[in-house]
This record gives sequence, C-alpha cells and structure tokens, in this order.
Amino acid sequence: MSLNPSLRTSSKITTPESHYSHSRGGRFSVSPSQDSHLSREERKCLEIQGLQVQSLVALGGFSRVYRGISSTSLARRESVAIKVTEITERSRFLRREMNIIRTIQHPYIIPLHSIFVNEGKCYIVTKLAEQGDLLDYLMQHGVTQEETARTWFRQLAEAVLYLHSQDIVHRDVKCENILLNEKFEVQLADFGFARIVDGSRINPYLSETYCGSLSYVAPEILKWKPYHPKPADMWSLGVVLFAIFNARLPFFATTNWDMRRSQMRKTYKFRTRVKKNLSKSAINLVSYLLEPAIEKRLTIEHVIRSKWLKYT
Ligand SMILES: Nc1ncnc2c1ncn2[C@@H]1O[C@H](COP(=O)(O)OP(=O)(O)OP(=O)(O)O)[C@@H](O)[C@H]1O
Ligand SMILES: [Mg+2]
Repeated sequence: MSLNPSLRTSSKITTPESHYSHSRGGRFSVSPSQDSHLSREERKCLEIQGLQVQSLVALGGFSRVYRGISSTSLARRESVAIKVTEITERSRFLRREMNIIRTIQHPYIIPLHSIFVNEGKCYIVTKLAEQGDLLDYLMQHGVTQEETARTWFRQLAEAVLYLHSQDIVHRDVKCENILLNEKFEVQLADFGFARIVDGSRINPYLSETYCGSLSYVAPEILKWKPYHPKPADMWSLGVVLFAIFNARLPFFATTNWDMRRSQMRKTYKFRTRVKKNLSKSAINLVSYLLEPAIEKRLTIEHVIRSKWLKYT
C-alpha cells in the first residue's frame, strides 16, 4: 500500500500559552551521511562512552536520535539509539524522563543502555529497535490483520498496565513512540512527557500539563482544565488501536476546537473493508476507548480483561 499521509501526526497540541507547540520533526532513513548534526564535542563525548555514531534516525520535537554501536560490552557490539537533548527550559521534563526510564523495566518497554549528561546536553542511550517505529510500519504496510493487531495491542496494553500500576503515566502514547524490535515485538518509548502521579496532593491524580500530540490527545485535555492523566493515556491507546486497524488516524483537525468537536461527536469511521472483516469485539474496544466521557472510558485493567484481548 502506498504512503498514507493522513497517518502523520499533526503538531503537538497548542496550549493557551503555546508553550509546548511545535511541528513534528523530520524523519530519516538510516544512511551513513546523515549524521551531520552531531558536533565534534558530542561525537568525542560519545566515543569516551564507547559509542560510535552511524547515522541520524530522526529529528524529534526536542531532540536528535542517532543510530550507533556500543562497544563497551566485551561480549558483543550492540546496536543502540542515542537521543541527544539540549538541557534548556524543558529540563523539568528531561529530569522526569531520565528518572523514570532509569527505574522501569518491562519486556515491552524499550530497554535503557545508559544515560549521561555533558556540556548542557543529555544523552539517553537505548537498545536499538531494529524494525523502527509503528508509524513507519503502518505507512509502509497499510492496514493490519486482526491477529497481528491483537498481538501488538496486547503487548502495548501490558506495558501501560505496568506503568499505570506504578502510578506512572506516559502522556505521549502515539505510533511514533511505539517501536518494534527485531522480533516485531512492541517497545514503548519516549518518556519525555511521562510523570509519576503524586498521591500526596489534595487532587492526587489531576495533571495540569497540557501535553501530547493533537491527533492522540483526549478531549478533556483540550478543555484546558486539570485532567486525569490515566484515562487520557487510554484515549491515546484508542487512537493507536484505530490507526493499527485502518492505517489512518480517527480524527482530522487542524485546530484544537475542531478536534474536540470531532472527538465529542465520535466522527471516526473505519475503512469499509476493514470493518467488514473485523470482529465486533475489536470494533467495540475502539469505541470504549474513544469514549469522550472519562467515567465510561475503559481503564487499562478493563482492556487487559477485554473479550478481544483474551481471545487467542
Ligand atoms: N531505541 C530506538 N530504536 C529505534 N528508533 C528509535 C529509538 N528511539 C527513538 N527512535 C526513533 O526516533 C524517534 C524520536 O525519538 P523520541 O520519540 O524518543 O524523541 P522525541 O524528541 O521525544 O520525539 P517527539 O517529540 O517527536 O515525540 C522515534 O519516533 C523513533 O522513530
Ligand atoms: Mg517521540
């Protein structure tokens, strides 16, 4: 199937202060000549850590990601991804990302190799997900068979269950942040907006950082009032599941207002041929996740126990 531009996410959401708004960075196929953004100091710093950069993989919103080889292990050379982020006004998020990624470990979360800070830059080194990210996969392969979708979504749900059960919210679940390893297993990545929900506050589970990408963000976030971050992650999971089935996103809008209106009206439509071949329980699961009322939206525990995921 040809490229489907409608899968590309729109910009990060625009807050009233426009603080987090930016358009998505470019993507690069792996090629040895495309590492020109790496300065000599950065390269030297990486070499000291036993890391050799091969090429640029992606320009993220706030960072550059390179493919490289780690030769620190005597046993074997390991392929890694090196995310270089400038420590600027986003350091609050970066600190959280570093703290969270250091403490988590799960088969469906990208494994950490190392983290270090040098000359105002933070380097987060993770194991390379050989098959790239889910967005690129869907753009190349188009709609996904129900069995593959079930396998991926179960793995993603297990990763989110692991996080939510430790009161960690991801807050940027989207196809670009879901990677695939050499066995085509899900590896949830990019904890740049993740945080631990603070149980000691009067309103323990309310979040006031209006972050995420417009196409994946829950309608309650677009109201600019403190919101519950776990249900917001569940909405994003619904968007991902819809995208896996249809190789396109459920809602299209360029402004926050239009997006919220589409979400509240549930305007999404499955491709005709997809809907014809998909089980009723799969279609229902999307509908219970893309549910504007948070009290009716499924939790991650519900998803894990859902009829569709239990089916083998
Ligand atoms: N371990 C990895 N293996 C393979 N590719 C990776 C890896 N880590 C990141 N990438 C690629 O780099 C992209 C950007 O990485 P990441 O999402 O961590 O950065 P970001 O700056 O937070 O991006 P954005 O703000 O656009 O979400 C990912 O979408 C993915 O394509
Ligand atoms: Mg990302």
